[in-house]
Amino acid sequence: MGKTIAIANQKGGVGKTTTAVNLAAGLAVEEKTVLLVDADPQGNATSGSGVIREKSRKTLYDAISNQVPLENIIFPTEFPLLWVIPADKNLAGAEIELVDQDRREYKLKELLDVAKSEFDYIIIDCPPSLGLLTVNGLTAADSLLVPIQCEYFALEGVTELFDTLARLRRSLNPELTIEGLLLTMYDERTNLSAAVARDLRDFYGSQVLDTVIPRNVRLAEAPSFGKPIILYDIRSRGSESYMQLAKEILNHG
Ligand SMILES: Nc1ncnc2c1ncn2[C@@H]1O[C@H](COP(=O)(O)OP(=O)(O)OP(=O)(O)O)[C@@H](O)[C@H]1O
Ligand SMILES: [Mg+2]
Repeated sequence: MGKTIAIANQKGGVGKTTTAVNLAAGLAVEEKTVLLVDADPQGNATSGSGVIREKSRKTLYDAISNQVPLENIIFPTEFPLLWVIPADKNLAGAEIELVDQDRREYKLKELLDVAKSEFDYIIIDCPPSLGLLTVNGLTAADSLLVPIQCEYFALEGVTELFDTLARLRRSLNPELTIEGLLLTMYDERTNLSAAVARDLRDFYGSQVLDTVIPRNVRLAEAPSFGKPIILYDIRSRGSESYMQLAKEILNHG
C-alpha cells in the first residue's frame, strides 16, 4: 500500500506547489512510483510538471463530478515513474457542486483508493484555503506536509491549520499524521529567515523537518518550462534541497 501525503497551508504562495512537484519528482528519481494529484483549480502543479493543456484532456474535476474513470485522468510525465492527475479552473466548480452531496469530503479518497495499491507515493497539492478541496485532500491522506515560508507572519495560520487537522482527526480521518513542517524560501543572508526557523523549531520541535528549502531563483524559473527542478537545473541548490527532502521523507517510511 502506498503512502498518501497532502501538501497544505491555507496561506497563499508559501511553496506548496513547488514542494509537491519537486518532492514527487525527487521520489520518482529515488525509484518510487509516484502519482502527483493537482487538487487546486489554479492548475499550477499540472503545468509545472509538464502536462500539456488540451481542451479534450480530462481532469480531476471530470472524475469527481462526471464519474470519468481514474485511468482516464492519469497522465505520464518525462519521468518514467511519475504520473499526474491534472486540474484546471473547472475544479473550482466541483467545490460548489459537492456542497449538498453525501460523503462530499470523501470524493478524492474514494477516487484514489484504487490507485493506492499501484503507487508507492501519492502527493496531493492542495489550494490555498481550508475549503472542501483541501478537506478532501486531508481526508484522502495518510499524512500532512506543511510548507512554511520564512517570512513575517509565517506562523500565522499554522494554528488554524492545526485546528482543522484536529477536527479532521475527530471525524473524517482519525489516522492522519503530520509528515512535517517544511521551511521554504529560506534566505541565509537575512536574520529574518533565521529567526523564523528558530521560532518554529522552538515551538514545534521535531515536527519541523531537517531539510530546509533555500530561496533559489532556479526553483522559480523551472515551472515556466514545465519542468521539475531536477530536469531544469540538477546542480542548483533548489534541486539539491528537494532531493534531500525526498530522502528525508523516504526515511520516514
Ligand atoms: N524556494 C524557492 N525559491 C524561490 N522561489 C520560490 C521558491 N519556492 C517557491 N517559489 C516561487 O514562489 C511562488 C509561490 O510558490 P508556489 O506556487 O509553490 O506556492 P503555493 O503555496 O503553491 O502558492 P498558492 O497558494 O497560490 O497555491 C512561485 O512563483 C514559485 O515559483
Ligand atoms: Mg499552489
